[in-house]
Amino acid sequence: MRSLHKKGREWRVGVAGLGTVGAALIDLLVERPGFAPAGGLATVTGVSARSRRRSRSAAISALPWFDDPVDLARSDANDVFVELIGGSEGPAKAAVEAALAVGKPVITANKALIAHHGAHLAVLAEATGAPLLFEAAVMGGTPAVKMLREAMVGDEVQLVAGVLNGVCNYILSEMEASGRGFAEVLAEVQRLGYAEADPIMDVGGFDAGHKISILAAMAFGRAPTFATTEVEGIEAIQPLDIRMAKDLGYCIKLIATATRSDVGVSVRVHPALIPLAHPLAGVRGVSNALFIEGRRIGRLFIQGPGAGAGPTAAAVAADIADVMTGAARPVFQAPARRLQPFAAMNVASAEGRVYLRLLVRDEPGVIASVTESLGATGVSIDSFLQKPVEAGAGVPIVLTTHAVAESVLNEATRRMAALATLLEPPRAIRIADV
Ligand SMILES: NC(=O)c1ccc[n+]([C@@H]2O[C@H](COP(=O)([O-])OP(=O)(O)OC[C@H]3O[C@@H](n4cnc5c(N)ncnc54)[C@H](OP(=O)(O)O)[C@@H]3O)[C@@H](O)[C@H]2O)c1
Repeated sequence: MRSLHKKGREWRVGVAGLGTVGAALIDLLVERPGFAPAGGLATVTGVSARSRRRSRSAAISALPWFDDPVDLARSDANDVFVELIGGSEGPAKAAVEAALAVGKPVITANKALIAHHGAHLAVLAEATGAPLLFEAAVMGGTPAVKMLREAMVGDEVQLVAGVLNGVCNYILSEMEASGRGFAEVLAEVQRLGYAEADPIMDVGGFDAGHKISILAAMAFGRAPTFATTEVEGIEAIQPLDIRMAKDLGYCIKLIATATRSDVGVSVRVHPALIPLAHPLAGVRGVSNALFIEGRRIGRLFIQGPGAGAGPTAAAVAADIADVMTGAARPVFQAPARRLQPFAAMNVASAEGRVYLRLLVRDEPGVIASVTESLGATGVSIDSFLQKPVEAGAGVPIVLTTHAVAESVLNEATRRMAALATLLEPPRAIRIADV
Protein backbone atom coordinates (compact mmCIF):
# COMPACT_ATOMS: atom_id res chain seq x y z
CA MET A 1 0.00 0.00 0.00
CA ARG A 2 1.16 3.50 -0.72
CA SER A 3 1.38 6.07 2.04
CA LEU A 4 -2.25 7.15 2.05
CA HIS A 5 -2.69 9.50 4.94
CA LYS A 6 -0.88 12.56 3.65
CA LYS A 7 -2.66 15.20 5.72
CA GLY A 8 -1.85 18.75 4.86
CA ARG A 9 -0.26 18.15 1.50
CA GLU A 10 -1.36 18.17 -2.09
CA TRP A 11 -3.30 15.17 -3.39
CA ARG A 12 -2.76 14.64 -7.10
CA VAL A 13 -5.87 13.30 -8.79
CA GLY A 14 -6.01 11.54 -12.18
CA VAL A 15 -9.45 11.64 -13.85
CA ALA A 16 -10.37 9.17 -16.63
CA GLY A 17 -13.63 10.10 -18.36
CA LEU A 18 -14.41 13.75 -19.09
CA GLY A 19 -18.09 13.55 -19.90
CA THR A 20 -21.01 14.76 -17.76
CA VAL A 21 -19.52 13.75 -14.41
CA GLY A 22 -15.81 14.02 -15.21
CA ALA A 23 -16.07 17.60 -16.49
CA ALA A 24 -18.16 18.61 -13.46
CA LEU A 25 -15.64 17.03 -11.09
CA ILE A 26 -12.79 18.98 -12.66
CA ASP A 27 -14.81 22.23 -12.34
CA LEU A 28 -15.41 21.39 -8.66
CA LEU A 29 -11.74 20.68 -7.94
CA VAL A 30 -10.58 23.80 -9.80
CA GLU A 31 -13.10 25.90 -7.89
CA ARG A 32 -12.54 24.30 -4.45
CA PRO A 33 -9.24 22.38 -4.24
CA GLY A 34 -9.36 22.65 -0.43
CA PHE A 35 -12.90 21.28 -0.14
CA ALA A 36 -11.93 18.48 2.29
CA PRO A 37 -11.44 20.33 5.59
CA ALA A 38 -8.69 18.14 7.10
CA GLY A 39 -7.38 16.68 3.89
CA GLY A 40 -5.10 19.22 2.22
CA LEU A 41 -5.48 20.21 -1.41
CA ALA A 42 -6.80 18.09 -4.27
CA THR A 43 -5.51 19.04 -7.70
CA VAL A 44 -6.05 17.29 -11.02
CA THR A 45 -2.71 16.27 -12.51
CA GLY A 46 -3.79 14.11 -15.42
CA VAL A 47 -6.83 13.33 -17.56
CA SER A 48 -7.87 10.76 -20.11
CA ALA A 49 -10.90 10.21 -22.35
CA ARG A 50 -11.69 8.62 -25.70
CA SER A 51 -11.03 11.53 -28.05
CA ARG A 52 -8.22 14.01 -27.59
CA ARG A 53 -9.64 16.16 -30.40
CA ARG A 54 -13.00 16.74 -28.76
CA SER A 55 -13.53 20.32 -27.66
CA ARG A 56 -13.31 20.68 -23.85
CA SER A 57 -13.24 23.51 -21.32
CA ALA A 58 -10.08 25.60 -20.95
CA ALA A 59 -9.50 24.09 -17.49
CA ILE A 60 -9.49 20.56 -18.93
CA SER A 61 -7.49 21.42 -22.05
CA ALA A 62 -4.66 22.77 -19.88
CA LEU A 63 -4.23 19.44 -18.03
CA PRO A 64 -1.71 16.70 -18.93
CA TRP A 65 -3.43 14.26 -21.30
CA PHE A 66 -3.10 10.45 -21.32
CA ASP A 67 -4.31 8.58 -24.42
CA ASP A 68 -4.77 5.39 -22.44
CA PRO A 69 -6.66 5.47 -19.09
CA VAL A 70 -4.59 2.46 -17.96
CA ASP A 71 -1.41 4.55 -18.28
CA LEU A 72 -3.08 7.32 -16.24
CA ALA A 73 -4.12 4.76 -13.61
CA ARG A 74 -0.54 3.51 -13.25
CA SER A 75 1.18 6.88 -13.54
CA ASP A 76 3.30 8.18 -10.66
CA ALA A 77 2.00 11.65 -11.57
CA ASN A 78 -1.12 11.08 -9.43
CA ASP A 79 -1.98 9.66 -5.98
CA VAL A 80 -5.67 8.95 -6.56
CA PHE A 81 -7.37 7.54 -9.67
CA VAL A 82 -10.96 8.52 -10.52
CA GLU A 83 -12.77 6.39 -13.11
CA LEU A 84 -15.69 8.15 -14.83
CA ILE A 85 -15.76 6.32 -18.16
CA GLY A 86 -18.55 3.84 -17.45
CA GLY A 87 -19.30 0.29 -18.58
CA SER A 88 -18.67 -2.98 -16.78
CA GLU A 89 -15.86 -4.09 -19.11
CA GLY A 90 -13.21 -2.52 -21.34
CA PRO A 91 -11.09 0.49 -20.40
CA ALA A 92 -12.96 1.29 -17.17
CA LYS A 93 -12.31 -2.16 -15.71
CA ALA A 94 -8.74 -2.36 -17.04
CA ALA A 95 -7.84 1.04 -15.59
CA VAL A 96 -9.40 0.36 -12.17
CA GLU A 97 -7.57 -2.98 -11.97
CA ALA A 98 -4.29 -1.29 -12.96
CA ALA A 99 -4.61 1.39 -10.27
CA LEU A 100 -5.57 -1.10 -7.54
CA ALA A 101 -2.72 -3.41 -8.55
CA VAL A 102 -0.20 -0.65 -7.80
CA GLY A 103 -1.96 0.20 -4.51
CA LYS A 104 -3.51 3.44 -5.72
CA PRO A 105 -6.87 4.55 -4.23
CA VAL A 106 -9.69 4.28 -6.76
CA ILE A 107 -12.94 6.22 -6.86
CA THR A 108 -15.59 5.38 -9.40
CA ALA A 109 -19.21 6.27 -10.21
CA ASN A 110 -19.53 3.12 -12.29
CA LYS A 111 -22.43 1.00 -10.98
CA ALA A 112 -22.16 -1.57 -13.78
CA LEU A 113 -18.49 -2.21 -12.97
CA ILE A 114 -19.10 -2.61 -9.23
CA ALA A 115 -22.27 -4.71 -9.65
CA HIS A 116 -20.53 -7.14 -12.01
CA HIS A 117 -16.94 -7.14 -10.72
CA GLY A 118 -17.11 -5.60 -7.22
CA ALA A 119 -16.03 -8.78 -5.43
CA HIS A 120 -13.00 -9.31 -7.68
CA LEU A 121 -12.00 -5.63 -7.41
CA ALA A 122 -12.43 -5.70 -3.62
CA VAL A 123 -9.97 -8.62 -3.42
CA LEU A 124 -7.47 -6.62 -5.51
CA ALA A 125 -8.03 -3.49 -3.40
CA GLU A 126 -7.64 -5.26 -0.08
CA ALA A 127 -4.55 -7.14 -1.28
CA THR A 128 -2.71 -3.87 -1.91
CA GLY A 129 -4.51 -1.86 0.80
CA ALA A 130 -5.91 0.61 -1.72
CA PRO A 131 -9.34 2.10 -0.93
CA LEU A 132 -12.04 1.41 -3.55
CA LEU A 133 -14.92 3.86 -3.15
CA PHE A 134 -18.09 4.30 -5.22
CA GLU A 135 -20.56 6.59 -3.44
CA ALA A 136 -21.64 8.18 -6.73
CA ALA A 137 -22.49 4.80 -8.28
CA VAL A 138 -25.82 4.65 -6.43
CA MET A 139 -28.30 7.54 -6.26
CA GLY A 140 -25.81 10.08 -7.67
CA GLY A 141 -25.57 12.88 -5.14
CA THR A 142 -27.68 11.21 -2.43
CA PRO A 143 -25.45 9.40 0.08
CA ALA A 144 -26.86 5.86 0.10
CA VAL A 145 -23.58 3.92 0.08
CA LYS A 146 -22.06 5.89 2.96
CA MET A 147 -25.28 5.48 4.90
CA LEU A 148 -24.92 1.69 4.70
CA ARG A 149 -21.12 1.60 4.90
CA GLU A 150 -20.87 3.88 7.91
CA ALA A 151 -24.07 4.94 9.67
CA MET A 152 -25.86 1.57 9.64
CA VAL A 153 -22.86 -0.61 10.40
CA GLY A 154 -23.84 -0.98 14.07
CA ASP A 155 -27.21 -2.42 13.17
CA GLU A 156 -28.46 -5.39 11.16
CA VAL A 157 -30.13 -4.14 8.00
CA GLN A 158 -33.26 -6.09 7.06
CA LEU A 159 -34.55 -4.14 4.09
CA VAL A 160 -33.31 -1.71 1.47
CA ALA A 161 -35.99 -0.57 -0.96
CA GLY A 162 -36.42 2.38 -3.20
CA VAL A 163 -36.80 4.21 -6.46
CA LEU A 164 -33.29 4.06 -7.94
CA ASN A 165 -33.70 4.94 -11.61
CA GLY A 166 -34.58 8.54 -12.43
CA VAL A 167 -35.38 7.86 -16.10
CA CYS A 168 -38.02 5.24 -15.24
CA ASN A 169 -39.44 7.41 -12.49
CA TYR A 170 -39.65 10.38 -14.83
CA ILE A 171 -41.37 8.30 -17.52
CA LEU A 172 -43.90 6.82 -15.09
CA SER A 173 -44.55 10.24 -13.50
CA GLU A 174 -45.11 11.76 -16.97
CA MET A 175 -47.35 8.89 -18.08
CA GLU A 176 -49.42 9.47 -14.95
CA ALA A 177 -49.57 13.26 -15.34
CA SER A 178 -50.32 13.33 -19.08
CA GLY A 179 -52.06 10.01 -19.79
CA ARG A 180 -49.58 9.39 -22.64
CA GLY A 181 -48.14 5.99 -23.51
CA PHE A 182 -44.70 4.60 -22.69
CA ALA A 183 -43.20 4.93 -26.20
CA GLU A 184 -44.29 8.57 -26.60
CA VAL A 185 -42.93 9.64 -23.21
CA LEU A 186 -39.69 7.69 -23.75
CA ALA A 187 -39.15 9.53 -27.07
CA GLU A 188 -39.62 12.86 -25.27
CA VAL A 189 -37.21 11.87 -22.50
CA GLN A 190 -34.62 10.96 -25.15
CA ARG A 191 -35.13 14.32 -26.88
CA LEU A 192 -34.59 16.08 -23.53
CA GLY A 193 -31.32 14.17 -23.08
CA TYR A 194 -32.38 12.34 -19.88
CA ALA A 195 -32.27 8.90 -21.50
CA GLU A 196 -29.58 7.31 -23.64
CA ALA A 197 -30.17 6.61 -27.36
CA ASP A 198 -30.29 2.95 -26.27
CA PRO A 199 -32.54 3.18 -23.22
CA ILE A 200 -32.57 -0.52 -22.32
CA MET A 201 -30.25 -0.17 -19.31
CA ASP A 202 -32.73 2.24 -17.76
CA VAL A 203 -36.20 1.11 -18.88
CA GLY A 204 -35.26 -2.59 -18.76
CA GLY A 205 -34.48 -2.23 -15.04
CA PHE A 206 -30.77 -3.12 -15.40
CA ASP A 207 -29.43 0.19 -14.05
CA ALA A 208 -31.63 -0.11 -10.95
CA GLY A 209 -30.55 -3.77 -10.76
CA HIS A 210 -26.88 -2.75 -10.67
CA LYS A 211 -27.61 -0.25 -7.92
CA ILE A 212 -29.65 -2.58 -5.71
CA SER A 213 -27.00 -5.33 -6.12
CA ILE A 214 -24.44 -2.87 -4.72
CA LEU A 215 -26.70 -1.71 -1.89
CA ALA A 216 -27.54 -5.31 -0.98
CA ALA A 217 -23.83 -6.10 -0.81
CA MET A 218 -23.22 -3.10 1.46
CA ALA A 219 -26.26 -3.89 3.60
CA PHE A 220 -25.68 -7.61 4.09
CA GLY A 221 -21.86 -7.91 3.85
CA ARG A 222 -21.95 -10.07 0.72
CA ALA A 223 -20.41 -9.88 -2.74
CA PRO A 224 -22.52 -7.87 -5.19
CA THR A 225 -24.17 -10.51 -7.36
CA PHE A 226 -25.95 -8.94 -10.31
CA ALA A 227 -26.31 -12.35 -11.98
CA THR A 228 -28.83 -13.47 -9.35
CA THR A 229 -30.73 -10.19 -9.19
CA GLU A 230 -34.24 -10.56 -10.60
CA VAL A 231 -34.88 -7.71 -13.06
CA GLU A 232 -38.06 -6.61 -14.84
CA GLY A 233 -38.46 -3.24 -16.60
CA ILE A 234 -41.32 -0.83 -17.24
CA GLU A 235 -41.79 -1.32 -21.00
CA ALA A 236 -45.10 -3.20 -20.64
CA ILE A 237 -46.80 -0.63 -18.36
CA GLN A 238 -49.79 0.92 -20.12
CA PRO A 239 -51.65 4.18 -19.40
CA LEU A 240 -54.61 1.95 -18.50
CA ASP A 241 -52.57 0.35 -15.68
CA ILE A 242 -51.70 3.75 -14.32
CA ARG A 243 -55.35 4.90 -14.40
CA MET A 244 -56.64 1.67 -12.91
CA ALA A 245 -53.98 1.70 -10.21
CA LYS A 246 -55.02 5.25 -9.32
CA ASP A 247 -58.68 4.21 -9.05
CA LEU A 248 -57.55 1.50 -6.62
CA GLY A 249 -55.51 4.03 -4.55
CA TYR A 250 -52.04 3.30 -5.95
CA CYS A 251 -49.39 4.65 -8.31
CA ILE A 252 -46.90 2.58 -10.29
CA LYS A 253 -43.15 2.86 -9.67
CA LEU A 254 -40.09 0.84 -10.61
CA ILE A 255 -39.06 -0.49 -7.22
CA ALA A 256 -35.73 -2.06 -6.28
CA THR A 257 -35.68 -4.16 -3.10
CA ALA A 258 -33.18 -6.18 -1.12
CA THR A 259 -34.62 -8.03 1.85
CA ARG A 260 -33.16 -10.38 4.41
CA SER A 261 -35.38 -12.90 6.15
CA ASP A 262 -35.12 -16.34 7.76
CA VAL A 263 -35.23 -17.95 4.32
CA GLY A 264 -32.40 -15.89 2.85
CA VAL A 265 -31.89 -12.75 0.84
CA SER A 266 -33.92 -11.55 -2.13
CA VAL A 267 -32.69 -8.84 -4.49
CA ARG A 268 -35.04 -7.70 -7.24
CA VAL A 269 -36.28 -4.87 -9.44
CA HIS A 270 -39.80 -4.71 -10.85
CA PRO A 271 -42.68 -2.32 -11.42
CA ALA A 272 -45.01 -2.25 -8.43
CA LEU A 273 -48.20 -0.63 -7.22
CA ILE A 274 -47.45 1.69 -4.30
CA PRO A 275 -50.23 3.07 -2.05
CA LEU A 276 -50.71 6.76 -2.81
CA ALA A 277 -50.07 7.66 0.84
CA HIS A 278 -46.69 5.85 0.89
CA PRO A 279 -43.61 8.16 0.91
CA LEU A 280 -42.26 6.46 -2.26
CA ALA A 281 -45.45 7.51 -4.10
CA GLY A 282 -44.44 11.14 -3.61
CA VAL A 283 -41.08 10.67 -5.37
CA ARG A 284 -41.62 12.41 -8.70
CA GLY A 285 -39.58 13.02 -11.83
CA VAL A 286 -35.88 12.14 -11.84
CA SER A 287 -35.60 12.03 -8.03
CA ASN A 288 -34.42 8.88 -6.27
CA ALA A 289 -35.44 7.70 -2.80
CA LEU A 290 -34.53 4.86 -0.50
CA PHE A 291 -35.80 3.16 2.64
CA ILE A 292 -33.27 1.45 4.86
CA GLU A 293 -34.64 -0.63 7.72
CA GLY A 294 -32.39 -1.77 10.56
CA ARG A 295 -33.42 -4.11 13.38
CA ARG A 296 -32.63 -1.51 16.03
CA ILE A 297 -32.60 1.81 14.18
CA GLY A 298 -35.90 1.18 12.43
CA ARG A 299 -36.69 2.92 9.16
CA LEU A 300 -34.69 5.68 7.51
CA PHE A 301 -35.84 7.45 4.37
CA ILE A 302 -33.56 9.44 2.09
CA GLN A 303 -34.53 11.23 -1.08
CA GLY A 304 -32.52 13.34 -3.50
CA PRO A 305 -30.92 13.70 -6.91
CA GLY A 306 -30.09 10.31 -8.39
CA ALA A 307 -27.99 11.72 -11.22
CA GLY A 308 -26.82 14.97 -12.79
CA ALA A 309 -23.39 16.49 -13.23
CA GLY A 310 -23.15 18.61 -10.06
CA PRO A 311 -24.65 16.18 -7.54
CA THR A 312 -22.71 13.19 -8.89
CA ALA A 313 -19.43 15.12 -8.96
CA ALA A 314 -20.03 16.19 -5.35
CA ALA A 315 -20.46 12.52 -4.35
CA VAL A 316 -17.19 11.65 -6.12
CA ALA A 317 -15.51 14.52 -4.24
CA ALA A 318 -16.83 13.15 -0.93
CA ASP A 319 -15.01 9.89 -1.70
CA ILE A 320 -11.84 11.84 -2.55
CA ALA A 321 -12.19 13.50 0.86
CA ASP A 322 -12.39 10.06 2.52
CA VAL A 323 -9.13 9.06 0.84
CA MET A 324 -7.50 12.37 1.79
CA THR A 325 -8.49 12.06 5.43
CA GLY A 326 -7.49 8.40 5.65
CA ALA A 327 -10.85 6.72 6.27
CA ALA A 328 -10.39 2.97 5.71
CA ARG A 329 -12.98 0.18 5.80
CA PRO A 330 -13.44 -3.08 3.90
CA VAL A 331 -14.97 -2.42 0.49
CA PHE A 332 -18.18 -4.38 1.28
CA GLN A 333 -18.31 -4.45 5.10
CA ALA A 334 -16.61 -7.89 5.40
CA PRO A 335 -13.05 -8.72 4.28
CA ALA A 336 -13.15 -9.33 0.51
CA ARG A 337 -11.70 -12.85 0.64
CA ARG A 338 -14.55 -14.00 2.88
CA LEU A 339 -17.38 -12.43 0.88
CA GLN A 340 -20.05 -14.89 -0.24
CA PRO A 341 -22.25 -14.23 -3.29
CA PHE A 342 -26.03 -14.12 -2.98
CA ALA A 343 -27.65 -17.39 -3.96
CA ALA A 344 -30.33 -17.16 -6.65
CA MET A 345 -33.54 -16.50 -4.82
CA ASN A 346 -36.43 -18.94 -5.01
CA VAL A 347 -38.84 -16.61 -6.78
CA ALA A 348 -41.54 -19.27 -7.07
CA SER A 349 -42.20 -19.28 -3.33
CA ALA A 350 -42.19 -15.46 -2.93
CA GLU A 351 -45.65 -14.35 -1.83
CA GLY A 352 -47.39 -11.07 -2.37
CA ARG A 353 -50.51 -9.32 -3.52
CA VAL A 354 -50.86 -8.78 -7.25
CA TYR A 355 -52.67 -6.51 -9.70
CA LEU A 356 -53.90 -8.35 -12.80
CA ARG A 357 -54.98 -6.66 -16.02
CA LEU A 358 -56.96 -8.65 -18.57
CA LEU A 359 -58.38 -7.68 -21.93
CA VAL A 360 -61.43 -9.83 -22.63
CA ARG A 361 -64.09 -10.18 -25.31
CA ASP A 362 -67.29 -8.28 -24.63
CA GLU A 363 -69.52 -11.34 -24.23
CA PRO A 364 -71.43 -13.12 -21.45
CA GLY A 365 -69.67 -15.65 -19.21
CA VAL A 366 -66.21 -14.11 -19.58
CA ILE A 367 -65.89 -13.02 -15.98
CA ALA A 368 -67.02 -16.42 -14.75
CA SER A 369 -64.30 -18.15 -16.81
CA VAL A 370 -61.65 -15.81 -15.41
CA THR A 371 -62.71 -16.26 -11.79
CA GLU A 372 -62.91 -20.04 -12.35
CA SER A 373 -59.28 -20.13 -13.57
CA LEU A 374 -58.21 -18.19 -10.51
CA GLY A 375 -60.31 -20.22 -8.09
CA ALA A 376 -59.07 -23.53 -9.53
CA THR A 377 -55.49 -22.60 -8.74
CA GLY A 378 -56.29 -21.18 -5.30
CA VAL A 379 -55.84 -17.49 -6.13
CA SER A 380 -58.21 -15.41 -4.05
CA ILE A 381 -59.58 -12.13 -5.44
CA ASP A 382 -59.44 -9.01 -3.27
CA SER A 383 -61.05 -6.44 -5.59
CA PHE A 384 -62.47 -6.36 -9.08
CA LEU A 385 -62.83 -3.43 -11.52
CA GLN A 386 -64.37 -3.44 -14.96
CA LYS A 387 -63.90 -0.32 -17.03
CA PRO A 388 -66.33 0.94 -19.70
CA VAL A 389 -65.32 -0.08 -23.22
CA GLU A 390 -63.10 2.51 -24.93
CA ALA A 391 -61.91 2.69 -28.52
CA GLY A 392 -60.39 -0.61 -29.67
CA ALA A 393 -61.36 -4.19 -29.18
CA GLY A 394 -62.13 -5.79 -25.86
CA VAL A 395 -63.07 -4.86 -22.33
CA PRO A 396 -60.31 -4.23 -19.77
CA ILE A 397 -60.77 -5.98 -16.44
CA VAL A 398 -58.55 -5.35 -13.48
CA LEU A 399 -58.45 -7.32 -10.28
CA THR A 400 -56.23 -7.46 -7.26
CA THR A 401 -55.49 -10.66 -5.39
CA HIS A 402 -54.81 -11.53 -1.78
CA ALA A 403 -51.24 -12.72 -1.07
CA VAL A 404 -50.32 -15.48 -3.48
CA ALA A 405 -47.11 -17.41 -4.19
CA GLU A 406 -45.55 -16.52 -7.52
CA SER A 407 -45.65 -20.15 -8.71
CA VAL A 408 -49.41 -20.28 -8.04
CA LEU A 409 -49.99 -16.99 -9.82
CA ASN A 410 -47.98 -18.18 -12.82
CA GLU A 411 -50.14 -21.30 -13.06
CA ALA A 412 -53.31 -19.14 -12.87
CA THR A 413 -52.12 -16.73 -15.58
CA ARG A 414 -51.07 -19.71 -17.76
CA ARG A 415 -54.60 -21.10 -17.50
CA MET A 416 -56.19 -17.74 -18.21
CA ALA A 417 -53.93 -17.14 -21.22
CA ALA A 418 -55.40 -20.31 -22.75
CA LEU A 419 -58.98 -18.96 -22.52
CA ALA A 420 -60.43 -18.10 -25.93
CA THR A 421 -62.17 -15.11 -24.33
CA LEU A 422 -58.87 -13.35 -23.50
CA LEU A 423 -57.57 -11.04 -26.23
CA GLU A 424 -54.02 -10.80 -24.87
CA PRO A 425 -51.99 -12.57 -22.16
CA PRO A 426 -52.81 -11.41 -18.61
CA ARG A 427 -50.46 -8.75 -17.25
CA ALA A 428 -49.45 -9.02 -13.57
CA ILE A 429 -47.90 -6.20 -11.54
CA ARG A 430 -46.93 -6.79 -7.92
CA ILE A 431 -48.42 -4.67 -5.15
CA ALA A 432 -45.45 -3.48 -3.11
CA ASP A 433 -45.02 -4.54 0.48
CA VAL A 434 -42.37 -2.01 1.53
N1 LIG B 1 -24.35 11.19 -15.67
C1 LIG B 1 -24.80 11.01 -14.42
O1 LIG B 1 -25.65 11.75 -13.94
C2 LIG B 1 -24.26 9.86 -13.60
C3 LIG B 1 -24.77 9.65 -12.30
C4 LIG B 1 -24.25 8.63 -11.52
C5 LIG B 1 -23.26 7.81 -12.03
N2 LIG B 1 -22.82 8.02 -13.31
C6 LIG B 1 -21.75 7.14 -13.80
O2 LIG B 1 -20.61 7.93 -14.06
C7 LIG B 1 -19.88 7.38 -15.13
C8 LIG B 1 -19.69 8.45 -16.21
O3 LIG B 1 -20.96 8.88 -16.64
P1 LIG B 1 -21.13 10.16 -17.59
O4 LIG B 1 -22.59 10.44 -17.63
O5 LIG B 1 -20.20 11.24 -17.18
O6 LIG B 1 -20.68 9.55 -18.99
P2 LIG B 1 -20.41 10.34 -20.34
O7 LIG B 1 -20.91 11.72 -20.30
O8 LIG B 1 -20.86 9.44 -21.44
O9 LIG B 1 -18.80 10.42 -20.39
C9 LIG B 1 -18.01 9.28 -20.58
C10 LIG B 1 -16.55 9.70 -20.71
O10 LIG B 1 -15.77 8.51 -20.85
C11 LIG B 1 -14.94 8.65 -22.00
N3 LIG B 1 -14.79 7.36 -22.65
C12 LIG B 1 -15.75 6.62 -23.25
N4 LIG B 1 -15.20 5.51 -23.77
C13 LIG B 1 -13.87 5.56 -23.51
C14 LIG B 1 -12.78 4.73 -23.82
N5 LIG B 1 -12.95 3.61 -24.53
N6 LIG B 1 -11.55 5.09 -23.37
C15 LIG B 1 -11.39 6.24 -22.67
N7 LIG B 1 -12.39 7.09 -22.36
C16 LIG B 1 -13.61 6.74 -22.78
C17 LIG B 1 -15.64 9.63 -22.92
O11 LIG B 1 -14.67 10.21 -23.76
P3 LIG B 1 -15.00 11.38 -24.82
O12 LIG B 1 -15.28 12.60 -23.97
O13 LIG B 1 -13.76 11.54 -25.61
O14 LIG B 1 -16.19 10.91 -25.59
C18 LIG B 1 -16.27 10.59 -21.92
O15 LIG B 1 -15.34 11.59 -21.58
C19 LIG B 1 -20.68 6.15 -15.60
O16 LIG B 1 -20.19 5.00 -14.97
C20 LIG B 1 -22.08 6.45 -15.11
O17 LIG B 1 -22.84 5.28 -14.88
C21 LIG B 1 -23.28 9.02 -14.09
